[in-house]
Amino acid sequence: MQFTTVVVAALAAVVPFVQAGPQAHLNNMCDFDVYLWSVSADGSSDMHTLKANGGTYSEDYQVPSQGGVSLKLSNKTQLGAAAGITQFEYTLTDWIWYDISNVDCQTTDCPFQPYGLYMESGKGCPTATCHAGDLTCKEAYTLYNDDWATKACTTDQDITLHLCSESAPEKREVFGVPSKRWAHGKPHGHPHWRH
Ligand SMILES: *[C@@H]1O[C@H](CO)[C@@H](O)[C@H](O)[C@H]1NC(C)=O
Repeated sequence: MQFTTVVVAALAAVVPFVQAGPQAHLNNMCDFDVYLWSVSADGSSDMHTLKANGGTYSEDYQVPSQGGVSLKLSNKTQLGAAAGITQFEYTLTDWIWYDISNVDCQTTDCPFQPYGLYMESGKGCPTATCHAGDLTCKEAYTLYNDDWATKACTTDQDITLHLCSESAPEKREVFGVPSKRWAHGKPHGHPHWRH
C-alpha cells in the first residue's frame, strides 16, 4: 500500500503536465537571457526571464476585453521606449492570428536582428523567418501597416517563436508535434492589434 503511494507520487513528478488548450510558446535559443512581458488592453504580466540556451515560456491563448496580446521581448530588464523591443503578437478570433513586430525597435537595436527569428504554428500553417543580420525583415512588421506579415491558422494550433534561430531544429523535443493541417482558404480581415 505504502509502496504504491510512493510509486504513484514518483510517476506524477516525472510524467509531464498535459496541456489543456492551444498555447503561445517561446523558445530562447539565444546565448543571452531574454525578458518577456505579456501585455494586452487589460494590463501587463510581471516580467518573465527566459534563460539563455533553451529557456521557454508558454501561455494559454488569452482573450483580452479588447484586441489581442503582445508578448514583448527584450534583452534588457526594462520595458520602455529606450529599450528595443520585438513583439510576438497574437489575436484569437475565429482564427489564431500571429505575427512578429519590430515596430517598437529600430533596425540595429532590435534585440534579435543579429541572430534571426523563426515563427511557426501547426503543420501546413504559415511560418515567418527573419534571417540573422536582416535589418528590415520582410516577414515581420517594420511599419504599422505591413499587414502581409500577419499569419493565421486554425484555433486549435499552438504558435511557437524561436529566438536566435532561422528554423525549428528542437521543436519536437521541446513542445511536441503539432498535428492538424491548415487546409482552409485564406481568411479575411486582420484583427491586428498592438500596444
Ligand atoms: C541588446 O540588443 C541590441 C541589438 O542587438 C544590442 O545593441 C545591445 O547591446 C543588447 N544589449 C544587451 C544588454 O545585451
